[in-house]
Amino acid sequence: MESENQNQPVIEIFGGSTLKGEVRISGAKNSALAIMAGTILCSDDCRLRNLPNLADITRMSQILSAIGVKIEQNGDILDFDPKNIGQSQAPYELVSQLRASFFVIGPLLARLGTTRVPLPGGCAIGARPVDLHVRGLQAMGADVLIEHGVVQASVKGNRKRLTGAKIYLDYPSVGATETIMMASTLADGETIIENAAQEPEIIDLANFCCSMGAKIMGAGTNTIVINGVERLHSTDYPILPDRVEAATFLVAGAITHSEISLYPVIPAHLASAIAKLREIGPKVILDASDRIRLIPSSLKGADIETLPYPGFPTDMQAQFMALLAMSEGSSMVTETVFENRLQHVAELQRMGANIRVKGNVAVVQGVPFLSGAPVMSTDLRASAALVVAGLAAEGKTTIQGLKHLDRGYDDIEGKLRKLGANLRRVNVPSELLSNPASLV
Ligand code: EPZ
Repeated sequence: MESENQNQPVIEIFGGSTLKGEVRISGAKNSALAIMAGTILCSDDCRLRNLPNLADITRMSQILSAIGVKIEQNGDILDFDPKNIGQSQAPYELVSQLRASFFVIGPLLARLGTTRVPLPGGCAIGARPVDLHVRGLQAMGADVLIEHGVVQASVKGNRKRLTGAKIYLDYPSVGATETIMMASTLADGETIIENAAQEPEIIDLANFCCSMGAKIMGAGTNTIVINGVERLHSTDYPILPDRVEAATFLVAGAITHSEISLYPVIPAHLASAIAKLREIGPKVILDASDRIRLIPSSLKGADIETLPYPGFPTDMQAQFMALLAMSEGSSMVTETVFENRLQHVAELQRMGANIRVKGNVAVVQGVPFLSGAPVMSTDLRASAALVVAGLAAEGKTTIQGLKHLDRGYDDIEGKLRKLGANLRRVNVPSELLSNPASLV
């Protein structure tokens, strides 16, 4: 809890600037976090490249170090030495700040045959259960006991390795698919994951594991087949570009009626976002296999329903809602993946957005303009929505709660300033923050 006399960082955005130029997209957070956990599977050193500079990446490094992985950083390159990982449990205070730390359970169980990982707990957008992860590991021959907030897992009986199994996921969970896929790379026999998640980050993780000698087929489809091997060897692997960061910048261009380019991107990973943007109005041009350009236009409302990949990504819902708030006509936004991912609505309403929420559906009536206001970030993608709304709003928007934004965006202010946006990060006395009127 911040004490009264402390300063707190906020972002001040002076809206109305048109953006111009090219923005460099960083490595994908949601790929990097799973792959960092996957380095535990390797019996030798391994190197990851193109890592984004994010609070979540730092926390994942701290968690891996706490369980004995030696890590050296050189810019966006991380070198991992997982040869001497121990039984020590990842510290709860770190795990509670980074849910993705739960990804270590599969690799630790596969490497050591036993492990203890604190339950990650929920977050602002939902309860975030891990039952599908646990059931997958149990199907592979693990005894799992959950008590005092810790998941204790160990391979049954006197077996040293997990056993391949056929696993059907009740929901195509990204995390559960990743946990089971990683655990099965060192299991005895064949594992089949049915109703698997198909996100690009699953493919990236599978490619990373295969670069260490794992035998994985079908990643990116709803059925993944893994044949376990005895050990995995060193690799030097680049993380793929962040499709959610790219979509966020596409929205920034569209909402400010700006022509901007993005590089590097994998256009296929943005198919649903690009299709939705084109439906709303802007043109999206593929200038090269890894470069896209947005041509602005007038904006008209469109409906969005978030779905598992290749459906419209839940991680892009908040940012697109900010765009729809300034798009002519009515739009219906349905969030089907997480149970509490509409908290940005209240903050957008403070900026003049006309949005009504009923259950997991938000009905957005486009307004001709938003007005800058002091607003509060509630979660990572909600904070991105407030940034893009602030870029287009009339006047000053002051965004509090930057710890959310810093988890998932690598220097978003610097990248936006380079495009011509008028924004800055300043420290404000906490007592001022408790009186929003003082921030106008
Ligand atoms: C990953 O979370 C991403 N995080 C999320 O990105 C992303 O929104 C989500 O996938 C969906 O695409 C990382 O990769 C680090 P899920 P994950 O398991 O794996 C339910 C961001 O903003 N579920 O696919 O936790 C769950 O409650 C973050 O970058 C179970 O019921 O997502 C949710 O309703 C936010 N039991 C749904 O599945 C389980 O065991 C989707 O969750 C696991 C999940």
